[in-house]
Amino acid sequence: MKLRRSVLVFALGLTAVLVAQTAATGGTASSRHNSGQSPGAGAVPQDSLRALGSKVGIRIGTAVNTDVLAANAPYRQITADQFSSVTPENVMKWQVVEPTKGTYDWSAADQLLKFAKTNGQLVRGHTLVWQNQLPAWLTAGTYTSAQLRDLLRKHITDEVTHFRGHIWQWDVVNEAFNDDGTMRDTIWLRAMGPGYIADAFRWAHQADPKALLFYNDYNIEGLGAKSDAVYALAKQLRAQGVPINGIGAQGHLDTKYGFPNQMRQNLQRFADLGLKLALTEVDVRTTLPVTTPEKLAQNADYSQMLEACLLVRACISYTVWGFGDAFSWVPSVFKGEGAADIYDENLQPKASYFALQQTLMLASGAPHR
Ligand code: XIL
Repeated sequence: MKLRRSVLVFALGLTAVLVAQTAATGGTASSRHNSGQSPGAGAVPQDSLRALGSKVGIRIGTAVNTDVLAANAPYRQITADQFSSVTPENVMKWQVVEPTKGTYDWSAADQLLKFAKTNGQLVRGHTLVWQNQLPAWLTAGTYTSAQLRDLLRKHITDEVTHFRGHIWQWDVVNEAFNDDGTMRDTIWLRAMGPGYIADAFRWAHQADPKALLFYNDYNIEGLGAKSDAVYALAKQLRAQGVPINGIGAQGHLDTKYGFPNQMRQNLQRFADLGLKLALTEVDVRTTLPVTTPEKLAQNADYSQMLEACLLVRACISYTVWGFGDAFSWVPSVFKGEGAADIYDENLQPKASYFALQQTLMLASGAPHR
C-alpha cells in the first residue's frame, strides 16, 4: 500500500505517453494465452487487471450478466482471469429475487456466488433499495406507508440474510438523489421520509454485521451539488452512528461531458469522514460511430478514474459495468451512444483495457511492455 502512493506521483505523468504507445503498437492481452493455468485464486495471469490490482491494494471488478456467463465461454474466461470482484448486473435486484410476493428466487445470484468462490473473487451485492427494477406486485399494488416500510424491512432482512457471509460490499441504497442535490421522489421517500436511508443501513447491518455497507450513486464522482448532498448525508449518518461504511461512485461517464470536477479531492473528503470509497459501475460511453479523439478521451477517462481511486487510500475497488461492448447496457438506454466498455463487440481488449493495465503497472512499479 505504501509503494502505490510513492510510485504513483512519478508514474501518472507517464501514463498518457505509455497508453498512447501501447495503443499504437497494438499491445495484446497476452494474459489469457500465456499462463497455462486454470483461473482461480493464485493462478491468474500475471499481467491481468486483477493481478496488477492486487499489487497496489485494489480489487478490479466487473458487473456480470449471468445469462452471458452461462452461455459464453470466452466471457467466462475473461471474467475469471481479469477480475477479482464481481457484481451481479441484475440478478440481486428486487424484481428478480422476488418476482411473486413472498416467493424468492435466488438461483441466478447463487450461481454467480459459486463462480466467484471458484475463482477467488469477492462479491459486491447490488442493490437493496432502489426505485427501479421493482417487482410489479409492489409498484402496481396499493400499500399504506406502514406496509411499505414493513415490506422494505423484510426485503432487506431476507436478502442480506440469504447471502450473509458471502458479500463483501452491499449497495444498500442506490441513486437516492437528483442531480441538483435534492432527494429523489421515490416510493420510499414518499412512504417513509428521508429517514428511510438510515433505516435501510440499520436493517442491513443487523442481517450481516460483517458486510461493508455502501451508499451508491452516479454523478457524484467530482465536486458538485449532488456530491455535496451525498457528503452531507454521509456526514450526518456517521454522526448519528448509522452503520454506513462506504460511498460508491458509479463512474458512468460520457465523453461529451468531460471529466468530473476534482475527483480525487471529492473522494478524499468522503475518506476523511472515515468512509471507504469504491468506483462501482465504470464505463465511458460516446456518440457512435466513435472517432479517434473520442477513443483517446475514453482511455483517459478510464485511467484517470483509476488514478483518482489509487490516490485515495480508502478507495478499495474499481468495478467496470460489464466489459464487452456487445453486452453493454448503454445502447439501449442512451440513444446513438455506445462503445463504452474495455473490450469490443468480439471480446477483444480495446485501448481502454491497456490504459487501465498500464496505469496499474506503473502504479506498482512493475516494468511495462
Ligand atoms: C442496469 C443494467 O445494466 C441493465 O441491464 C438493466 O436493464 C437496467 O439496470 N445504475 C445502476 C445499475 O445502479 O443497476 C444499472 O444497471 C445501471 C445504472
